[in-house]
Amino acid sequence: MSLRLVTAGESHGPALVAILTGLPAGLGLDRAAIDADLHRRQQGYGRSPRQQLEQDEVEVLAGLRHGRTLGTPLALVVRNRDHANWVWGMSPWPPEGDPTGKGTKPVTLPRPGHADLAGVLKFGHDDVRDALERASARHTAVHVAAGAVAKALLQELGIEVAGREAEIGGATGEAEMRAAVDAARADRDTLGGVVEVRATGLPPGLGSYSSKEDRLDARLAAALMGIQAVKGVEVGDGFELAGRRGSEAHDEIELGLRRRSNRAGGLEAGVSNGEELVVRAAMKPLPTLMKPLDSVDLDTGEAAQALVERSDVAAVEALAVVAEAAVAWELARAARGKFGGDSIGDFVGAHRAYLDRIPWAPR
Ligand SMILES: Cc1cc2nc3c(=O)[nH]c(=O)nc-3n(C[C@H](O)[C@H](O)[C@H](O)COP(=O)(O)O)c2cc1C
Repeated sequence: MSLRLVTAGESHGPALVAILTGLPAGLGLDRAAIDADLHRRQQGYGRSPRQQLEQDEVEVLAGLRHGRTLGTPLALVVRNRDHANWVWGMSPWPPEGDPTGKGTKPVTLPRPGHADLAGVLKFGHDDVRDALERASARHTAVHVAAGAVAKALLQELGIEVAGREAEIGGATGEAEMRAAVDAARADRDTLGGVVEVRATGLPPGLGSYSSKEDRLDARLAAALMGIQAVKGVEVGDGFELAGRRGSEAHDEIELGLRRRSNRAGGLEAGVSNGEELVVRAAMKPLPTLMKPLDSVDLDTGEAAQALVERSDVAAVEALAVVAEAAVAWELARAARGKFGGDSIGDFVGAHRAYLDRIPWAPR
């Protein structure tokens, strides 16, 4: 049984859409829990006023009846409330009447660090907006909604996934992080940081070493690198392991199959080993600066400054929620692959039977 996710939607278009296939029938979903995650994604120190404007909530168009999945494609929608200001500029059809609202003039000032320049060159666009609208991280909202569904599925197996911001602009304590954001804002600059996602309750045996695309570490890395602005991923002690000796890098096995440490972050050979999963992602500083970077006007060919569009100073707390959703989705995918089943009872039953087969294994 394979879990699949397809999304569509532009940053200022009418809505973001996700279609999820491969869910079992009978999974209970809670609208408030999905909306709570959407709300969490919009919070965080250093976000722009757009976050207050949006107040995301999920709509379900298909695949759910009376709060339970039907085992058919689940269609989720998150509307872009800001679209009201872009009705002419982001009209899916040729707009009628005089240009009004935002997005009426072509953008010709590509921002370094965004899809702007590569996107117009690749697709032959003459308006940078045609590239930046989809490349924007706005559509992470609908990924968070899909992640909330994945978390509901994982909870049926006793698996919990949680993300948190570990560093912002090199600062680790909450007060220091806030001070770093305030200082960057005052300088009209931006910051990046590090997020950490942990998952507990994972059975050993999710993922496989059989082929590289089945390795759970590879899948998680791809899922995290698939998020805008993520430039590095590590599992367990990750990059630090490179400088250690073997005697200080692995997790010795004690009687009772307990581990003395968890440097591997819960994964060995691409397979979960029953310990807590620990992954981290590094986020680059956001590329839209209020003090714009140097660029070139694509219209005149002259040196110019990059587009300034309303933007966050830092979005590390939001990334923690998006990364949590991405990890939850990959774990749910791996669990569906291992335990299958058309109904939630079949799925949970297969998980229980597997744990009964390995009663001495860590969990
Ligand atoms: C949750 C989240 C919010 C973001 N918000 C902004 C933003 O307000 N301004 C900005 O310039 N980039 C923002 N980004 C980063 C850009 O979307 C990203 O850097 C850009 O699309 C280029 O992709 P790349 O960094 O992966 O190369 C955000 C990323 C995430 C994950």
